[in-house]
Amino acid sequence: MKKLVFLTGAGVSAESGLRTFRDSDGLWENYSVADVASHEGWLANPTLVTEFYNARRRETLEKLPNEAHRLIQSLEAQFDVSVITQNIDNLHEQAGTKHIIHLHGEVMKMCSSRNVEDSTCWLQLTPDSCEVAPGTLAADGSLLRPYVVFFGEAVPKIEEAALLTQTADIFVVVGTSLNVYPAAGLLHYVRRGVPIYVIDPKPVPTQGLHVHHIMKKASEGMRELCEQLMPLS
Ligand code: OAD
Repeated sequence: MKKLVFLTGAGVSAESGLRTFRDSDGLWENYSVADVASHEGWLANPTLVTEFYNARRRETLEKLPNEAHRLIQSLEAQFDVSVITQNIDNLHEQAGTKHIIHLHGEVMKMCSSRNVEDSTCWLQLTPDSCEVAPGTLAADGSLLRPYVVFFGEAVPKIEEAALLTQTADIFVVVGTSLNVYPAAGLLHYVRRGVPIYVIDPKPVPTQGLHVHHIMKKASEGMRELCEQLMPLS
């Protein structure tokens, strides 16, 4: 089976009703990245950050996967599909996709603020108990923090994502402005000659690489992609 690797961003979840970050009405219009999504912001005001992610969790739990998430999953019938997502929502999981790398973390998970990757301190939140009171401690006595990558922090899963990207026979980018590194740099790990598709209603910076740009929203664009991929499976 050919290996189909997706890189997804906020745009793939837009039709589920989740706001993107950088479009007009996007999340970063209403919040300061420095306050709620940076390492310094967390150190300065962990209560604000905890409450921001409590709100993101409540919002996410009301949403369902859309046709784009479902079509990505359905391609597993013909391809070996992997998804590298910058999204912290769990809509790819809900759609049934088996292999997912969450580059920027997961909204339903909390961790130690001393050591994010210490799995003994991870706390999986559930729909019935999805809010965390500011000041709650992790098992190691440090403040419990959202399991998300803040600006100014390393992206621990980038190496795994880069290795996976190098194995792609077809690479597809859906709904990301390709503004944030190192995620955007993954395009350079695609092997020469491997087709790259981009599904996004707006132009995105593709770093001088030749791409097939399907200038449509995620669901419609995925329908078109599925038709184009049929003969390649
Ligand atoms: P952005 O908000 O930067 O970009 C969203 C992209 O989705 C844009 O290119 C839009 O044109 C496109 N888009 C909007 N609606 C769409 C739709 N219905 N279908 C398809 N595409 C659509 O979001 P990301 O690129 O995901 O990181 O942002 C990357 C990272 O920046 C996020 O993971 C987050 C953020 O700060 C962290 O918080 C660490």
